[in-house]
Amino acid sequence: LASIQVDVSGVEPGMSLTVKWRGRPVFIRNRTDKEIEEARAVALEDLKDPVARNANIAADAPATDIDRSAGEGKENWLVMIGVCTHLGCVPLGQAGDFGGWFCPCHGSHYDTAGRIRKGPAPENLAVPTFEFVSDTVIQVG
Ligand code: FES
Repeated sequence: LASIQVDVSGVEPGMSLTVKWRGRPVFIRNRTDKEIEEARAVALEDLKDPVARNANIAADAPATDIDRSAGEGKENWLVMIGVCTHLGCVPLGQAGDFGGWFCPCHGSHYDTAGRIRKGPAPENLAVPTFEFVSDTVIQVG
């Protein structure tokens, strides 16, 4: 299966990159400390979808902030398929009621960990298979 490598060395905290992978957008975000803190402050029982939806870990892993991110030491990085889990529109970044992503098609609000918090979308934005192949290069797929 085709994978891509993305140089994220120029992506400072608070910046994002959108790349294309298998015909779909992939959002890569270097989160600020504030965004991480906000996501961590959310109780799991307040989540509409309590599952991490992260292809790199167990299918039933909970949607904690760390399990949505690139993991320990890289928790500032979020890598997600940029396709709304409702009907497939591309959400807008740094928008919506939770400061994460907002899908304007029917009003789905995602938080700073890409978790669905309000609106019709049923699931968190999906985290694809990815890994850091060096300090500054992410391989998706
Ligand atoms: Fe995103 Fe419907 S496609 S809210």
